[in-house]
Amino acid sequence: MKAAFIERTGPPDVIRVGTLPDPVPGPGQALVRVRACAVNPIDTYVRSGAVAAPLPQPFVVGCDLAGEVEAVGHDVAGLRPGMRVWGSNQGVLGRQGTFAELAAVDAHWLYPTPEGVDDDAAAAAALVSITAHLGLVTHAAVRPGETVFVNGASGGVGSAVVQIAKALGARVVGTAGSEAKRALVRELGADAVLDYRRDDLPAAARAAAPEGIHVYWETQRDPDLDRAVELLAEGGRIVLMAGRDARPAFPVGPFYVKCCRMAGFVMFKADRHLQAAAALDIGRWLASGRLRVPIDRVLPLEATAEAHRLQEAATVGGSGALAGKIVIRP
Ligand SMILES: NC(=O)c1ccc[n+]([C@@H]2O[C@H](COP(=O)([O-])OP(=O)(O)OC[C@H]3O[C@@H](n4cnc5c(N)ncnc54)[C@H](OP(=O)(O)O)[C@@H]3O)[C@@H](O)[C@H]2O)c1
Repeated sequence: MKAAFIERTGPPDVIRVGTLPDPVPGPGQALVRVRACAVNPIDTYVRSGAVAAPLPQPFVVGCDLAGEVEAVGHDVAGLRPGMRVWGSNQGVLGRQGTFAELAAVDAHWLYPTPEGVDDDAAAAAALVSITAHLGLVTHAAVRPGETVFVNGASGGVGSAVVQIAKALGARVVGTAGSEAKRALVRELGADAVLDYRRDDLPAAARAAAPEGIHVYWETQRDPDLDRAVELLAEGGRIVLMAGRDARPAFPVGPFYVKCCRMAGFVMFKADRHLQAAAALDIGRWLASGRLRVPIDRVLPLEATAEAHRLQEAATVGGSGALAGKIVIRP
């Protein structure tokens, strides 16, 4: 099969596209014919070695996939050849990745792709929507009528958080870096969208949410927790999921006096039953058109290194050059 893989960690050009032996599904696994996969920041950290991870040799890059079941191994119930599926959680924790024509995947990480949802849309939504669901439902327990503030609402995770928060009945205030991106976030359903560069952002956020923020979702790697706690309503929750090296100052006093909580999590460490429950909702919202993760561009497998460069420049370098996910069609 054709695959995008690495034999050592390093810059994007360590990614090679070539032929590897077809994977054979083991017990409990399905062999998926991958029609689309999406790039996530974690793919670039694993490839560069910034996040140390056990890697099969050679290592096929990537976490997300959508396609159809080609074959199943022993002990697989509920999947059969020809079924369309999507999923994430590959290319991490020692598992082989998805940027290939075929992937052997533990069946419990695969979810049925709803009719009418194409593979590009399902792959683009995979990791970011599960992350948004886990954060909002499991960690923040967002309730209808509450206000969710999303710092970085135009990004992969942010765009999913905006839409899932709306689907759960919340009000959403987001931030984005350009007028075009703010228009995009409004289209996704946000009630107010602010420029994250403005000096008076806290005042603007207070004006947009006079009763305070109930869930403050930070997508940035250098969170300003003073600002977050200041904006929180009584009983507010902060969700953190980026910035492994961040060591920001923390306002203990205002935080506990307002009876706040803070949760941090990594999507791919979440229990598979929790992720499957999230996937059920996500499938339903994708099918109804309520969830649509923006796609910036669709590229062939040969462009995987270029896709990593673009993703790194956007997420780590703040280039602002991406307005949606990069989808790769193997
Ligand atoms: N813990 C987990 O399970 C988990 C899961 C997924 C992702 N992550 C991490 O979460 C982070 C975001 O991932 P992603 O896929 O959403 O990345 P992304 O698609 O690159 O999005 C980055 C976002 O950051 C915004 N941004 C840039 N500079 C900003 C600033 N100064 N203030 C506020 N926002 C700013 C961008 O806005 P503009 O484009 O409008 O400028 C964009 O919306 C990454 O670090 C990733 O590794 C963690």
